Amino acid sequence: MAVLEVVKYGNPILRKKCSMVTDFSKLSDFIDNMFYTMYEEEGIGLAANQVGVGMNLFVIDISHTDENEFPRIFVNGEIISSDDESIFSEGCLSIPQVALEVKRPENIVFKYQDIREKWHEEEFDGLLARAIQHEIDHLNSVLIIDLVSEMQRVRVNQEIKKIKKHSEAKLKQQSITKRFVL
Ligand code: NI
Repeated sequence: MAVLEVVKYGNPILRKKCSMVTDFSKLSDFIDNMFYTMYEEEGIGLAANQVGVGMNLFVIDISHTDENEFPRIFVNGEIISSDDESIFSEGCLSIPQVALEVKRPENIVFKYQDIREKWHEEEFDGLLARAIQHEIDHLNSVLIIDLVSEMQRVRVNQEIKKIKKHSEAKLKQQSITKRFVL
C-alpha cells in the first residue's frame, strides 16, 4: 500500500467537479491506498479528488467514535433529501490547521453505489451524515471556507493564504521537475 499525496487548497483539482465512476474493475487498490492515506493523515474522511483523482468516490471511517460503525466506501453518491440543522466544527485535510463552524442539515437520505456497483439508499445522521456532506462537497468542488460567514473566513484568512501560496509553489515546482525528466 502507498500513502498518496493529499492536495492542498490552491490546487485547481479541488475546484473541479468529479466525474461518475463507470469502470469499477480497478478501484480496489486505489481505495486501499485512500484508506491508508486517510489513516496516516488522521482524517475521518477522504475524497478522491483530494488525492488528485477526479472521480466520484470517497471513503469514511468513524469506527473509533462509534463501535457500531465500520470503514465505508461511497461511489457515485448523491444526497436525495435532508432535514434539520446543526453547527459543528469541521477541519479538512486539504486545509490543514483550519477549523470552521459549519452549519449543515443533521439528517440526510443518501444514494450511492458500493464497490460491487450495487445501489443503496440509506438514511444517515450525526457525524456520519456530516462527514458524507463534507466529502460530497469536495466532489462538487465545494470547500468548508465557502460555507461560512465572512467573519469566520477573515479569522482564518492568513492561514488560508499561506496554504494556497505553498500549494501553488509546490505545483510550479512539480511542473518544472516534470518538464526535465529525461
Ligand atoms: Ni475535507
